[in-house]
Amino acid sequence: MIGATNGARVSITGLGCCTPERVVTNDDLSRTLDTSDEWIRERTGIRERRIALPEQALSDLALPAARQALAQAGGEPSSIDLLIVATVTPDMVFPSSGAVLADRLGMPDAAAYDLSAGCTGFMYALAQAYGMIAGGLSSRALVVGGDVLSKIVDWSDRSTAVLFGDGAGAVVLEAVDAGGFLGFELGADGAGGVHLNLPAGGSRMPATAESVAGGQHLVKMNGPEVFKFATRVLVSSAERVLAECGLSVADIDLYVPHQANVRIIDYAVRKLGIARERVVVNVDRFGNTSSGSIPLALADAAADGMLHPGQTVLMTGMGAGLTWGSAVMEWTGQTNGNGQSRRREETVGG
Ligand code: ACO
Repeated sequence: MIGATNGARVSITGLGCCTPERVVTNDDLSRTLDTSDEWIRERTGIRERRIALPEQALSDLALPAARQALAQAGGEPSSIDLLIVATVTPDMVFPSSGAVLADRLGMPDAAAYDLSAGCTGFMYALAQAYGMIAGGLSSRALVVGGDVLSKIVDWSDRSTAVLFGDGAGAVVLEAVDAGGFLGFELGADGAGGVHLNLPAGGSRMPATAESVAGGQHLVKMNGPEVFKFATRVLVSSAERVLAECGLSVADIDLYVPHQANVRIIDYAVRKLGIARERVVVNVDRFGNTSSGSIPLALADAAADGMLHPGQTVLMTGMGAGLTWGSAVMEWTGQTNGNGQSRRREETVGG
């Protein structure tokens, strides 16, 4: 799916994020896994990640992120009529974490649901919310991207355990006079799904004592295949959305790629020809937070003074599915005039 937006101007007017307080370093991991800080930093660029406490679920991270985004956008939670939570680690299979979160935030009239598109979920959700607002079905949407992958990672598998972290981000979308989203490109290659999956717990392989004992409820990944896919689509999706919008790489002020691995980001940056100082990278501090990755990176860029109204921002995600998605937008900032500065991120837990 690809399209330059025409007519309706919709933008992000509030931004928030939240990570667990607990920091787990590479050295911490090397105490229980046959790995090292050196290997992890060299192959991935990751130094540390945040890991939720046993009692923390997705909505516990999503709630502070959403409150921060709403505070920045201004207005009451009840003004939100659409809430989409992009995640592969909802609190439970159903009810959706969207419904759980709407209740916790006090949004009795919002349509609320979850969206599953792997690490690309946040990009898919942005496109959906844009479409709902542009089509007149929603006037104010809250989009949350977040995951608690630590709950589904195999902590005895060094090839996956070192890559992921927990976190959530949230944005408010609404109509603006000028700027905002300029175009989207989304896609999926189901044939590649085998390279990154969680086999059990669905209707194909319901939970049994054997499926649990066999680790079938934990993430399985073919790292080198996912690496090849990720480097390919980060470049092709960005090129396609820019062409559709009549823009070139030279027009991009800020590039926010999915934070999976510094080597993947470096490859895309080189291929696309984007100047390094225009690229947001925080995978070193958070690891791969799946659907939380792009909103966390946006919030980090805002906190670091990298994100200003008028800038052209390119975001590209990719993940399980295999899926990918890009958006290009003219950043407008929030509409309530509170200023851009904010705390870097909320944390939860002890
Ligand atoms: N510590 C030490 N050694 C390790 C570790 C580790 N944590 N993990 C793997 N190794 C070993 C392997 O066992 C292998 O050893 P061998 O040669 O003796 O068999 C060796 O390192 C090389 O393994 P590769 O898998 O070939 O290593 P590669 O250079 O491909 O790096 C990595 C692995 C980092 C996982 C890489 O493939 C990658 O980043 N892939 C993409 C993963 C990703 O981003 N997934 C998520 C994207 S989508 C989403 O966000 C959900």
